[in-house]
Amino acid sequence: QKLDIELAAIEKGGYDHFMLKEIFEQPQTIFDSLRGRLDAEHQHITLSGVDKIKEKLIHANRVIIVACGTSWHAGLLAEYVIEELCRINVEVEYASEFRYRNPIITDKDVIIAVSQSGETADTLVAIENAKKQGATIFGLVNVVGSSIARMSDAGAYTHAGPEIGVASTKAFTAQLALLYLIALKVAYEKQTIDQTLFNKLLGDLAKVPQYVQDILEEQDAAIQEIARKYADANDFLYLGRGFNFPIALEGALKLKEVSYIHAEGYPAAEMKHGPIALVDENLPVVFVATKDSYHEKIVSNIQEIKARKGQVIAVVSQGDNVVAGLADDVMVVPQIHEIIAPILSVVPLQLLSYYIGINRGLDVDKPRNLAKSVTVE
Ligand code: G6P
Repeated sequence: QKLDIELAAIEKGGYDHFMLKEIFEQPQTIFDSLRGRLDAEHQHITLSGVDKIKEKLIHANRVIIVACGTSWHAGLLAEYVIEELCRINVEVEYASEFRYRNPIITDKDVIIAVSQSGETADTLVAIENAKKQGATIFGLVNVVGSSIARMSDAGAYTHAGPEIGVASTKAFTAQLALLYLIALKVAYEKQTIDQTLFNKLLGDLAKVPQYVQDILEEQDAAIQEIARKYADANDFLYLGRGFNFPIALEGALKLKEVSYIHAEGYPAAEMKHGPIALVDENLPVVFVATKDSYHEKIVSNIQEIKARKGQVIAVVSQGDNVVAGLADDVMVVPQIHEIIAPILSVVPLQLLSYYIGINRGLDVDKPRNLAKSVTVE
């Protein structure tokens, strides 16, 4: 038994939990997912999986992204990014819904299945059905040789390495990195992006591993403090707009999973249609409020929460004194193009969930009732 304990400690690489280890691995795992694919210097993206179905993608009637859980959140961000850059219609579907309703699918549809494990039963059956109806299947999977990878017509692996913590962290940021590459490559081939923006986004994507490293180094201590302060809350609200909306959802999911605190993610502007009724001095509201084209709007959303005595924790861009001045607590991230920003914004939220779970004395690596990979319906 002693040996087992020692082996487990070695596997965790000096960290207390796999979740923390995996959060801190992200500079490397994002780098690994970009390596050999992104060449910012020569403005080039190499993705043989995309090349294989290039014509299908360029002429796609629709891209339908199917996934579950955290992978679905990556898909939701991909919808925003692909529609913005590639001008292709995108739908994002929960695999469990998609497989049981009677969706209209044709051979002009491309399905992107996003899955860490590559074994999620609902996602697998969803693509099986779509394939029978003639759709082209692109698998975005972490586990090499998994069922979804084998079922796909083409695909690309995230290179996040084995993810042990049940709550997905490094697999999520690897999925985002790859989805950015796919969107940028298709946009380039389809000529729906101008060269200046293409170069800018490639350059910013290449900076992400270092920026994530900076966040981990510079924000960890502050986030531990914030976690202590809010660990006894009963509910949390997470709000974001635009590209940061999927990150609000993912932040809320992470907190639910590892702290058992009820948390809801919402589009910030939608809060006045319900969630604002929850706001009082006991409700922490996490704003994903980095500097982007929605900034002014999110500032007024923050003011609305403050006017009702809600406690505001904000993810802010470096140097943003406006949001920092309004919020009770801030987690600072480097400023980067708004399309790429979400891959940074999620990192402090992962840490916040981890430390709140730890403060509550919970088994963050194996939360109750959850499974790493759901291979039954
Ligand atoms: C389970 C896991 C989640 C994961 C989801 C989808 O619920 O606990 O962390 O996001 O399945 O898994 P997949 O392997 O398909 O990404």
